[in-house]
Amino acid sequence: MVEFSEREKRQILDYLELLREEINEKLDKYTDFGERCPKYLAEPMRYSLLSTGKRIRPTLTLLACELCGTLRSHALPAACAIEMIHTYSLIHDDLPALDNDDLRRGQLTCHIKYDESSAILAGDALQAYAYEVLSKDVFPKDVAGRCVAILAEACGPCDLVGGQADDMAWKANGAPSLEFLESIHHRKTGAMILAGLRMGATIGGASRLQMEKLDEYGRNYGLAFQITDDLLDVTSDEETTGKHVRKDISQGKLTFPSFLGVEESRKQAYEKVRAAYDALNVFQSDSIVYKCMVGLTQQLLDRKK
Ligand code: FPP
Ligand code: MG
Repeated sequence: MVEFSEREKRQILDYLELLREEINEKLDKYTDFGERCPKYLAEPMRYSLLSTGKRIRPTLTLLACELCGTLRSHALPAACAIEMIHTYSLIHDDLPALDNDDLRRGQLTCHIKYDESSAILAGDALQAYAYEVLSKDVFPKDVAGRCVAILAEACGPCDLVGGQADDMAWKANGAPSLEFLESIHHRKTGAMILAGLRMGATIGGASRLQMEKLDEYGRNYGLAFQITDDLLDVTSDEETTGKHVRKDISQGKLTFPSFLGVEESRKQAYEKVRAAYDALNVFQSDSIVYKCMVGLTQQLLDRKK
């Protein structure tokens, strides 16, 4: 993998921070509804959406677009749309009927800060609004249509929601296998990461080869992301992650560390990161965008939250 100089590391961090700011600013604008939306709905939506998420998925959308040679501003609405869907999924995941969590992104979860009905409706509204943003603000319209299809598939019954359903119910499905575990991880986490990349690449006008390579990258990145997320639950603390830890064990979740142990999970994460990195070689260049993709990927092995 790549050893960056101190100067390059600084450039990468600065660039990623710039993208984060652009995403946060646009999310803020998008949810400035004024009188059009009841305050008691807009408030919980903004509370969760504008909190301190890492913005990984929208960042990947912007980077994929730029990597394919198109101005990232074209992909900003799609970047915001995926963060809205991601945030809705976190709000609902934290509800008492699902993971029953009271801490997320270093703050009270939406249903604790407000109440359950507000959290359910805030999630519902964010989900619908993501598609409004995509269909109205992505151009040309055939590209918008393709993005709607990409996102809808990734967060629908076979991916995000299906993966979440299996995650909740896996005990009913017999003895676990590594294949089943990877399939849950891919659907509940990887698919959204892949969708972010696919939308960025579609807006960026990716060639067939670029699209294939970004897919390969995304599949491996997504799995590495969830494996390292599982590892944080075992090895990190609340202050660093901004959410409760050891939840997976207490809830009997099927995770990489519970299935393979910590060391083997680290090895698996390394292998996926390596495969993701290798998939980028078709883009190999000295550009800051390429370096950011590589940097983001390698950062997974050193993930703190
Ligand atoms: C943390 O992302 C979230 C995950 C690793 C995904 C877990 C999957 C779910 C919660 C699926 C829920 C689905 C439904 C339908 C309820 P992150 O570390 O990027 O979080 P951040 O945005 O706060 O940084
Ligand atoms: Mg949870």
